[in-house]
Amino acid sequence: MSQQTKDLVEEAPVAASPGLAELVLDGKEYELPTVVGTEGEVGIDITQLRSRSGAITLDPGYGNTGSCESAITFIDGDAGILRYRGYPIEELAEQARFTEVCFLLIYGHLPKSQELADFESRLTHHSLLHEDMKKFFEGFPSSAHPMSMLGSMVASLSSYYPDDGKSVDLDLNIARLIAKAPTIAAYSYKKNIGQPFIYPRNDLSYCESFLQMMFAVPAEPYAVRPVVARALNLLLILHADHEQNCSTSTVRMVGSSQANLFASVSAGICALWGPLHGGANQAVIEMLQRIRDDGGDYPKYVAMAKDKSSGFRLMGFGHRVYKNFDPRAKILKATADEVLAEMGVRDPLLDIAKALEEVALHDEFFVSRKLYPNVDFYSGIIYRAMGIPTNMFTVMFALGRLPGWIAHWKEMQEDPKTRINRPRQIYTGATQRPFVPIDQR
Ligand code: CMC
Repeated sequence: MSQQTKDLVEEAPVAASPGLAELVLDGKEYELPTVVGTEGEVGIDITQLRSRSGAITLDPGYGNTGSCESAITFIDGDAGILRYRGYPIEELAEQARFTEVCFLLIYGHLPKSQELADFESRLTHHSLLHEDMKKFFEGFPSSAHPMSMLGSMVASLSSYYPDDGKSVDLDLNIARLIAKAPTIAAYSYKKNIGQPFIYPRNDLSYCESFLQMMFAVPAEPYAVRPVVARALNLLLILHADHEQNCSTSTVRMVGSSQANLFASVSAGICALWGPLHGGANQAVIEMLQRIRDDGGDYPKYVAMAKDKSSGFRLMGFGHRVYKNFDPRAKILKATADEVLAEMGVRDPLLDIAKALEEVALHDEFFVSRKLYPNVDFYSGIIYRAMGIPTNMFTVMFALGRLPGWIAHWKEMQEDPKTRINRPRQIYTGATQRPFVPIDQR
């Protein structure tokens, strides 16, 4: 752990362990130690299980498996609680700047004024891409998905800022990554639409600079609308971390081999892309458009979602962890109304989304399975109102999730207990058989 982190992370009290867990396997008893988190969640420590019993645990999808101890984010899915470093998401969403949340997640405490000023200055002064990197964009087809460009460009940052794991200035590389990701994201959009790249501007805030890189053109002045910058700040904060989700676990998995920060985060970007994870915000809008184009018959789509053979799911509904409500969705539902009203935008997709939610929330199928709107259900509608194109939605999620990925990568690197991640399996294939020469098959 760096001295800075050591000095600044507040020590949290550790609750008493409930004692030993007992496992009986093949008539033999094993006692397993337990661990308790600061919020009282209990884990059975099975690190010695295989060496003592020969058996492993099987948990496809990891619904019951803790992969690490972490002091970054706490979620209570039943109570709809999400806290970054102990601070409720509602308070951060209301009062914080995204850059403050980045600092909080990565360094463990809310920055003092000077710390925030120094951190933001670093982000401002590292936002340019090496001019050679701009040429990479020439090689992509203009139809390239911006997530593929983001993942490739973030991985290639390791060519420009090599990390041999010893002499590297990690804090500087962290700042570079957070600073350059919006530039890469905006350039990938400009590549898609064939407009010239717009450089970052040092007189603007992090969110404002990104918006002007997205929407300005060299031919005329561009002023960022404060309501849009505020909405972006909020969306980025709400996506900033979510403990051991698919992409964050991927970052940790890749980083456990001591792969560098850029390579590990690039892997996380790829994991985020899928429609069951960060790709859901794009999928939600495509679903709502499909319902609108089909005459707005949302009960038909609710019925389809209930019919497993249809292969259709209500995108933006359900969550592995939240089984009551997703606190981020609650904030975004209210924000969607406010932002659209303030911008004077009327989006029929918002009406369809609300109607769909209303029907699903009273339907036994969704109620009994505890399926509620998740963060992606309303985020796409706000992004649309801000002028962000649909295929950029997952990129926006990635920009928000960056500090979470970085914080987890850093926490893992600094944890002396970290080992390379290497799960086991239960083999179900053929048992030993002799090789058959090709003319006898
Ligand atoms: N529409 C219809 N049925 C659903 C849905 C849905 N969106 N989500 C889950 N179910 C059903 C599912 O068929 C299953 O029914 P049964 O018990 O009868 O077999 C039950 O609910 C449990 O579903 P599951 O797939 O076992 O749950 P999971 O925890 O493995 O998956 C999920 C969680 C988020 C992948 C899933 O709910 C889903 O596919 N949702 C739609 C995609 C989506 O919105 N993803 C964004 C997640 S939030 C952003 C992020 O953090 O990435």
